[in-house]
Amino acid sequence: MYQTTLPVVGAGFRGRDEQLARIVRAVEKLRAGGSEWLALLGSRKVGKTSLLLEASRRLGDRVVFAVLDVLDHVPVTAEVIRLLVLRVVERVFARDCGQSLEATIDPASYRAALAGSARFARLPGDLRQLLLGLHDLHLTASALAVLIQIPERLAEALDLPIVVAIDEFQELADLRVGRPAHDVLPMLRSAWQKHRRVAYVISGSARRLMIDLVASPRSPFFGHFALLEVDAFAQADAIALLVEGAVPGHAVSRQLAARAVAIIGGNPFYLQLLGEQLAGLASPLDEGALKEALSRLLFHRTGRLAMFFEAELARVVGRSAQALAILEQLARAPGRPADLQAALRLSSSSAVNYLARLGDVIRRRADDRYELTDPVMALWLTWRAPGGAAVPMTVVGDEGERDVARALADLGFELVYQSKASRGAFDLLAIRAGVMVGVQVKRSALPLHFTAAAWNRMEAEARRLGWRWIATAASREGVVTFLDPAHGRRRKGVGLSSSSAIVNLLAWIDDASPPRRRR
Ligand SMILES: Nc1ncnc2c1ncn2[C@@H]1O[C@H](COP(=O)(O)OP(=O)(O)OP(=O)(O)O)[C@@H](O)[C@H]1O
Ligand SMILES: [Mg+2]
Repeated sequence: MYQTTLPVVGAGFRGRDEQLARIVRAVEKLRAGGSEWLALLGSRKVGKTSLLLEASRRLGDRVVFAVLDVLDHVPVTAEVIRLLVLRVVERVFARDCGQSLEATIDPASYRAALAGSARFARLPGDLRQLLLGLHDLHLTASALAVLIQIPERLAEALDLPIVVAIDEFQELADLRVGRPAHDVLPMLRSAWQKHRRVAYVISGSARRLMIDLVASPRSPFFGHFALLEVDAFAQADAIALLVEGAVPGHAVSRQLAARAVAIIGGNPFYLQLLGEQLAGLASPLDEGALKEALSRLLFHRTGRLAMFFEAELARVVGRSAQALAILEQLARAPGRPADLQAALRLSSSSAVNYLARLGDVIRRRADDRYELTDPVMALWLTWRAPGGAAVPMTVVGDEGERDVARALADLGFELVYQSKASRGAFDLLAIRAGVMVGVQVKRSALPLHFTAAAWNRMEAEARRLGWRWIATAASREGVVTFLDPAHGRRRKGVGLSSSSAIVNLLAWIDDASPPRRRR
């Protein structure tokens, strides 16, 4: 089964052996009396939360592993520290209490549940009072300072190693508490560095902010964290995800999986989405099915990956047409600020400012050119930008389809794959100003020949859908000829020769009266 809506733990979790081993090592060290801090760095949807949760699951009883995702609690206020402590309390005591402490509906039932734990009863009195009053504590700077100590105090009192993992940690960067306001990060740092029984793991997708937090001399955390990169899957793991996640009756061959990975890379989220899309198509899953699945996922306005990128795009460019133009330009070809300046007629300072504003979506290469960090997003963006209609065919099409798609895109058509997986008669649907044209692509020199059955199917389908239709010949030399089916010669099937060529396709469409839809 492919899983796309939640972080993955347990049976569906794949790969990441190295990172899991690294986290286990940190925990072993903690159990031996040495605390170590880890910072997980990884782009959006690469699997940071899944990794934390899976590490927690695999470590089981060896350690208490409390994970909190800051972005689950927006807007971010100092409250998030209270929630973090509650998460620790939950992980330490819930099992004794036989119920979730976080899920209690009011402070009184929380206190009643907590009192049910024998281990709780053995805690020092002041710590017990503190935990019982956790919900009611007024969050001043000094109260926060006390809260921050709770994990270490619990670990000490119960002789239990604890890992506190904070996901999307960069969101705490500007957090302040009390009046006058105190920065929270320095408070965390000075408390944490005295802790011996608690290890801290932070993670986040805002790469630059995270690196700033852990590696900038100005940061209170400078030099405290060991970095752990969470990258896209290596090829073998990526292929295994597609092959092993397949549902019965919709097997994905290793060959098809390898082809898919070559196109969309190793981001596990993208692969899961693609697998899910494939699983919805009729078997056998072949190259045609892959084309269709990718088109629906990425090259379609309501495709799940397209919508994910649309949201990312809105987040980074907002309403700025210039920022969008820069991204589109970089998606087409990596460039230096001076290239952007020239192409988009920007001043040198505004090119640099825009680049800074685009943040982690772009990165600087060794040759000083900027490119989109995610090549799949770059592909989507070029498809979405004006003139990008042929992009899908250049990614998954054969040479004939590619040439025909380019010729049609140059004429201003939008293009949609009509793959054989949906049992359609055409290869492409070309749309221009509301006119739909079914396109049959033949990689062959003229004349073209069709069997009567194939010809009749195209005619019938065009009539049924209210489309016009054409055949196209794409020669090995890359010459594309559009052919008018009205000139088909019937003899043992139907032939189309150079005398059927449509010289001006746009005029042909305008001149012809719309076909009548069959009732
Ligand atoms: N190890 C894995 N095995 C299988 N699938 C995975 C794995 N890691 C991630 N995925 C897939 O990627 C999706 C996103 O994973 P996850 O939420 O862990 O990523 P994230 O980096 O925390 O994302 P976000 O940027 O939204 O916080 C999951 O729903 C799942 O489809
Ligand atoms: Mg996450």
